[in-house]
Amino acid sequence: MTQKTRSYPFVKWAGGKRQLLPQMEKYFPKHYNRYIEPFIGGGAVFFHLIPENSIISDNNPDLINCYKVIKDDVERLIKSLKKHIYEKIYYYEIRALDRDVKKFAELSDIEKASRSIYLNKTGYNGLYRVNSKGLFNVPFGRHKNPKICDETNLRNVSQTLKKVEIFLGSFEICLDFVEKDDFIYFDPPYFPLSDTALFTSYTKNSFDKSSQLKLFEVFMELNERGCNLMLSNSYSEFILDLYKDFKIITLKAKRNINSNSQKRGLINEVLILN
Ligand SMILES: C[S@@+](CC[C@H](N)C(=O)[O-])C[C@H]1O[C@@H](n2cnc3c(N)ncnc32)[C@H](O)[C@@H]1O
Repeated sequence: MTQKTRSYPFVKWAGGKRQLLPQMEKYFPKHYNRYIEPFIGGGAVFFHLIPENSIISDNNPDLINCYKVIKDDVERLIKSLKKHIYEKIYYYEIRALDRDVKKFAELSDIEKASRSIYLNKTGYNGLYRVNSKGLFNVPFGRHKNPKICDETNLRNVSQTLKKVEIFLGSFEICLDFVEKDDFIYFDPPYFPLSDTALFTSYTKNSFDKSSQLKLFEVFMELNERGCNLMLSNSYSEFILDLYKDFKIITLKAKRNINSNSQKRGLINEVLILN
């Protein structure tokens, strides 16, 4: 067996699954063909499993660009990241680069990835949020000496990604290539518990009820194909009812990113298995 390179998520991501891994561990299948994760985000589960043969995707173009640049051009990315400084005025200058569409389009993929990672490391709570025009609008964050460029981890991530296929696109694209015995982990934006309780605007198009229903159809189709399926979502009546014919496990999660800090605490989430 080849030696696996240990690597870790290179961004902090809303809904990241790191804290839930100990509770999820016993539900990961022991044997499967390929690993597929269509809502990769920060990739906590992917980096935990480091599967030999995998396909990852997300519909966030800035995020997918980072994965591709780390895979193909990590040394130039590291060089670019080293130029950034943790300073408020500088942060807002870098954030404002997407306000000039023409200039932004002229940036190289490396410069764009460098900007995205810098904003993630120094912005408020590692949040990714864009307004209705698609402009990044997270305020400057208070951090103690943030590690903007973690060279060792970036190189290890690059190594991990060498054999991984990376796609930009909505989750339905997995129907085009998923086969029997593949293991698919779905971690979509959660169905909200109330209008304000959960954060779902990772990108311009929020993930609404019809997206949850579409995802359920994909889940059913892949179940028919004989895949190993795992899906995370909120502990809500809608989700419990939708997936009632599957195995539903309740996990306890500490919510980290929430605009209402009074509501931080342990909440139930579901893990659905076929
Ligand atoms: C809950 S997060 C995933 C978190 C990830 N598991 C982690 O550990 O960091 C949900 C992800 O779904 C992505 N997303 C939202 N709508 C999508 C869609 N229609 N298709 C694919 N990805 C989507 C978001 O960009 C976000 O990265």
